Order: sequence, then structure tokens, then C-alpha cells
Amino acid sequence: MGVFSGHWPSESELDKIRNKVAELSGRDAQEVRLVISPYRICPLGAHIDHQGGSVSAMTINKGILLGFVPSNDSQVTLQSAQFEGEVLFRVDEVQLPKHMSETNGLTEQIDLSTPQEECKWGNYARGAIYALQSRGNHLKTGITGFICGSEGLDSSGLSSSAAVGVAYLLAFESANDLVVCPTENIEYDRLIENEYLGLKNGILDQSAILLSSYGCLTFMNCKTIEHKLIHPPEVQNNHEGERGNAYKILLAFSGLKQALTTSPGYNRRVVECQEAAKVLLQASGNEELEPVLSNVKPEDFEVHKSKLEANLVKRAEHYFSENERVLKGLDAWASGNLKEFGDLITASGLSSIQNYECGCEPLIQLYEVLLRAPGVLGARFSGAGFRGCCLAFVEADRAEEAASFVKNEYFKLQPNLASHLNQGPAVLICDASDSARVISNTFSQLD
Ligand code: GLA
Repeated sequence: MGVFSGHWPSESELDKIRNKVAELSGRDAQEVRLVISPYRICPLGAHIDHQGGSVSAMTINKGILLGFVPSNDSQVTLQSAQFEGEVLFRVDEVQLPKHMSETNGLTEQIDLSTPQEECKWGNYARGAIYALQSRGNHLKTGITGFICGSEGLDSSGLSSSAAVGVAYLLAFESANDLVVCPTENIEYDRLIENEYLGLKNGILDQSAILLSSYGCLTFMNCKTIEHKLIHPPEVQNNHEGERGNAYKILLAFSGLKQALTTSPGYNRRVVECQEAAKVLLQASGNEELEPVLSNVKPEDFEVHKSKLEANLVKRAEHYFSENERVLKGLDAWASGNLKEFGDLITASGLSSIQNYECGCEPLIQLYEVLLRAPGVLGARFSGAGFRGCCLAFVEADRAEEAASFVKNEYFKLQPNLASHLNQGPAVLICDASDSARVISNTFSQLD
């Protein structure tokens, strides 16, 4: 019953992929199945998923499309619209984890905006097989596929890597007639990222991609895996008969592709949170618990925070305050109070800057510009916040005005970086979207 929002993917985009896969595989375009795997945003709940915190998320109407046909044997053959080369392997080959630099964390993830060597982009498909194999699924059927990220979009900050991982999981499962529920796929994608690629991230990204539903806010408690969809109070029909919203989602791109060398890596912050948890658990007589901040009671943090180094107090402060903002945000969303929801997003953005210390100058400037833009309800970094983009919720009828304001003002502050955005949009106006899904044959199956 998904509502198809914002015309992504268009029928012509889908047809292009069907034809490409038909050409690669020698099969009929009607046989081609498609995975639609959207990018995600996290309005509230940044950087607390890996500590077992509560997060909120939704998907947007941009993302990954993967067209495929099941092979007649175990062979996997993949090509990409963004990456060079061809990925070739067999689903019955045993896949072993890759090793990744501890300090670089997210900066090592693939960037869909630039061509990559085969060895890098093929990792997500191999990682999906690793995840399925390590939970006892031994697949027999490979795929011939073609993968494509939303055109001209610098996807860093939107979790393109989880969207890619989920897309491969859904394709391999479909080709092998495996029925897998979203929570199992959340775990499989965690195995791709944590075990196969060595990133210490949480389950926010894939939860958003697998669980979201149009117009709802997805809530996930990353410790208990309890999740629910928070419906807004009322959704009107727009003039085309689609459900419309009072808000749009703005994505403002910084032009930064690489993490600045002075930026601390994602994994380093995760370790700092664990160190803070360890000290607090010891101080409160709970040292037998796993050192993650969700095992620390907020009152124990208040009593024992003086035992932490100054930087660790800030990381824990971010964790506890962000958890509270998420819970308040659910109520604001459920009651349709977009102003309060927006204020919470902005406060979350500030905590990322002051407590989690994960921004860098251009991203902070972009955040500040967004807050001055007409109609903006709230803004923050999107994703890991070491490069990439910022997101904002904006009143729908002022979205265009806000987008051009941000574009002009950011250009004044960062002319060099802004000029790197020539090939893609500086600011994108998006709508919320649905969860990842597989479709076959006709477009009507999107509904
Ligand atoms: C990345 C990680 C997520 C999450 C966010 C920050 O997207 O993959 O697990 O930690 O950063 O909220």
C-alpha cells in the first residue's frame, strides 16, 4: 500500500535499467526485477545508534536502483552506472571479511559520485553474500545485475552504502526465493558493515531503509530493536491526488568529498563513547555490563560525570540529550507540531557540533545558512557529519525560495567548494518516501 511519492523512480529510469540488464544477460526486459533502495535521513538520533540509543529516520525519494535477473547457475555478474569495470564472482564462493583502517571509519565507504575500481564497489555485493552465508544461507543462484545511484547526487551523508548493501541483499534473496523479514535484513546489513567492512556503525541506516513508510517517522530503539512508525495527524491530498505534506526536505551539499585531515574518524568517536560508558559503569558498580552508553542510567551519568575526561563528558552529553530529543520529537511528529520538531532538529545539530564535535567549518557554515533561510523549520548535518551534506525541514511553499537563498549564501562563504557542486545540485528539494522493495515487470506493482 505504499504511496509513490515525488516521481522517483520514474518509469523511464526503470525502463533504462530493464533494457540494460536485458542487454547484459540476453534475457527479455520483462524478466528483469528491480530493487528500489532509497537513501535515508535521520532528523533526530544522530550518532547514538552504535550506543544502543533511540533514533528517528525516514527515507527520501532518491536512492539506489538495482536491476537484475537470476542466473542459471551461481555466477554473479554486475555492472554499474557510476563505477568502472565488471564485478564477477560466484555465490557459492566463501566470502571472508575485509580489513579496514580503524581510524578512517566512514571516510572509507564508497562515494557513488565518482567512478571506483572494481575491487571497492564489488565489496558490497560480496559483503551481502558474506552476511547471508554467515547466518547459514548457502545460495545457489547468482544474478546478472546493473546498479545505479540517483544521478548527479553526492550521496555522502545519505547512507548510500546501506542502500547499496540492502539492494544486494534483497536481490540475492529474491533470486534464491528466500523469504527474509526486515529485521533479519537489518542484521544482515549490520554484518556487511560491522564484520565484512569493519565499520563500527549502528543500525540506523538500514533500519530506516527497510522499515520506513511514506509520511511516517520511523522510530527504532537500537538496543531492543523495538521499532514503530509514527503517523502524522493528518495528510492532505495534493492537486494530483497524491498525499501531500506541509513540509519538504532540503538537502544542502557542501562540496566536500573527502573528510578533512583534521576531522576525527567515525570509529574514533564510537570508541570514545565506549570509554565514557566504561568509566560510568565502573563508577556505578555495573562494570559487568557491555560498555555502551545505553547501559548507563542518565542519573548515573549526572552523578559520576566528574570522573570523565572533558571530551568524554561531551560525548556522553550528546548521547543522553539526543535520546531525549528523539522521544520529544516522536510526540511533536505525532501531534503535527513541525515547529517543535524543527527546533529539536536544530538543537540536535548544535549538539553534534558542540558535544559530538563531528562537523567541519564548511558544514557548520552550511548549517548556519540553512537556519537563516526562509521557511526553514530546523536543520542539522546529515549522516556521519564529517563531510557531505546538511538536511533541513522547510515549509513546503517556501522550499524553492529557501533553496536559492542557501545556494547563494553558501557560495559567498565557500566559493571554491560551491564551485565543485557544478555537476550536481547545490540544494535538492526532496519528499519523504517508502521502504526498500523488489518489483518485477510492471510499474503498477509499486503501489
Ligand atoms: C552513519 C552511520 C550510522 C549513524 C550515522 C550518524 O550514517 O552509518 O550508523 O551512526 O552515521 O547518526
